[in-house]
Amino acid sequence: MITTKWQAISAGLFFLVVFLSGFWLSRSGKPYSGILINVHKLVALAAVVLFVVTLVRLNRIAALGALEVAGGAVTVLLAIGLFVTGALVSIDHPMPPLVFTLHHLLPYLALLSTAATLYLLRGH
Ligand code: HEM
Repeated sequence: MITTKWQAISAGLFFLVVFLSGFWLSRSGKPYSGILINVHKLVALAAVVLFVVTLVRLNRIAALGALEVAGGAVTVLLAIGLFVTGALVSIDHPMPPLVFTLHHLLPYLALLSTAATLYLLRGH
């Protein structure tokens, strides 16, 4: 059981910073603040890297189960979706509302999927 508590705490902190900066970006609108958008995407990137590194390390210690792999894969796919839609909403070009809707919805799915995967990994 490697520092499960710390994994959950750091994931929570990363999500908090990404969500708060995201809501701030949405409220302030275009043109987005350069500092805020960089904080938003760099902290999001750090969270994804930490998540993947954690899964790879745990897998080296003892092979992950099918459900844990599935949870990790879904989370990574959602993160990719967030990076694609995040990049699209940040460019200075009109985007279909669906892209914004997706970028507003996917964070909650990613939060759920991350929490579920970390829950499955407890005691691993
Ligand atoms: C794990 C990855 C990410 C998460 C969890 C995330 C989460 C969020 C959240 C919660 C919001 C606020 C949505 C709302 O108001 O309901 C938001 C907004 C935003 N995010 Fe992200 N984001 C991620 C990655 C990115 C990336 C990589 C970029 C840019 C390259 C980006 C650019 C933006 C922009 C520009 C907004 C404001 C959109 C608007 O005007 O409504 N995000 N994000």
